[in-house]
Amino acid sequence: MEVQEIKQRFGIIGNSPLLNRAINIANQVSPTDISVLITGESGSGKEVFSHIIHQMSPRKHGPFIAVNCGAIPEGTIDSELFGHEKGAYTGAVGERKGYFETVNTGTIFLDEIAEMPLGTQARLLRVLESGQYIKVGSSKVEKTNVRVIAATNVDVYEAVKNGKFREDLYYRLNTVPLRIPPLRDRKEDIYLLFRKFTSDFTDKYRTPPIQLDDEAQQVLVNYSWPGNVRQLKNMAEQLAVLERDRIITAQTLLTYIPHETSNRNLPMRLDNQPKEDFSERDILYKVLFDMKRDMVELKKLVADIIEHGGVAANYSNHSQTINQLYRDIELPGNPEAQFTLQQPVNTVNNNSNNNNVDAYNITHDAEEVEESLSLIEKESDLIRKALKKHKGKRKLAANELGISERTLYRKIKELNL
Ligand SMILES: Nc1ncnc2c1ncn2[C@@H]1O[C@H](COP(=O)(O)OP(=O)(O)O)[C@@H](O)[C@H]1O
Ligand SMILES: [Mg+2]
Repeated sequence: MEVQEIKQRFGIIGNSPLLNRAINIANQVSPTDISVLITGESGSGKEVFSHIIHQMSPRKHGPFIAVNCGAIPEGTIDSELFGHEKGAYTGAVGERKGYFETVNTGTIFLDEIAEMPLGTQARLLRVLESGQYIKVGSSKVEKTNVRVIAATNVDVYEAVKNGKFREDLYYRLNTVPLRIPPLRDRKEDIYLLFRKFTSDFTDKYRTPPIQLDDEAQQVLVNYSWPGNVRQLKNMAEQLAVLERDRIITAQTLLTYIPHETSNRNLPMRLDNQPKEDFSERDILYKVLFDMKRDMVELKKLVADIIEHGGVAANYSNHSQTINQLYRDIELPGNPEAQFTLQQPVNTVNNNSNNNNVDAYNITHDAEEVEESLSLIEKESDLIRKALKKHKGKRKLAANELGISERTLYRKIKELNL
């Protein structure tokens, strides 16, 4: 089969040479019964490749089972894999079939093979060499015809050197090594994968399409992706469900990247830029978001008033809401200034029958409030609030504001706070 065909059939996204090479190897090895050792970081696609190999092999109509050797307690792994006789050990009430029996004529995928205990390794080696095994507590030799695909995200040879993994088994398994490259070694695939995943998830959840702006694309591609495709897929799902703004900025994207790694892996382009630029933009974003939120609330309020009519009918409620709104906005520069509602009181006294006019009066008021917002004032207000919240601790305040401590220090000086 052609590489492109395989990708299509198994939903494999990506076009990097390293990925194509891995697909080629899988393609060549699948018709044989040779054991394959798949290596690669967590989430890079090892299990996917084990399916591909099985599905493209003559065993495709036989059973396939994935066993995580790291997740089975040492005391039961032999019995799970090879089965046991009745009374083989305390608690072994009945006979049990092992996977090597049930998967006969199929493929077994042994994930985290380096975690396999040494005793089990000996049993496995025997199956690989002769197709023979013995159930726990039995002396009868059984036969099976199972193909083994193993996977690991650690260096098994390291385990061999430390005496934790049998060297003979290592060579036996590693007849054909298949290395799945980490995402950071196939950067050209990252955005392709992201687009595929977000489009799948927005379809699934019936949410509007997601787009990344240029800077966000840079962040995405230059991040180190320690969790590889699995992490990218999870992030795409979260964005598809959570983000209301469907054009994703670098800033938003960074909030989805685990903190301890996000600093180390800031995109090159941003790293080379003077840091201050990005931080200032951060503040501007914050200010704009705040303003947008206030506007949305005002619009909602006005719509509400228009819809439910009669400011007079329900005046006290609305006046409370409006007062609350003003308090939420907390005008910059003059935090002490309390807002009193003058216009609405007048309109109530007007006895006006035209509710829309009341609504417009209120809107007009609100616009005046908005106009007095200056970015600098809003910025210093934000900084003041952050400092107050964190009791003057600059580091925490800077963190909350999404700027560097150094920038915060400079701003405090500049703005004379
Ligand atoms: N090239 C790829 N294209 C599309 N999806 C992929 C690709 N590689 C991995 N995936 C998906 O990423 C997730 C993790 O893959 P998996 O095979 O379980 O990784 P591993 O076994 O290495 O931890 C799965 O949901 C898988 O479908
Ligand atoms: Mg896995």
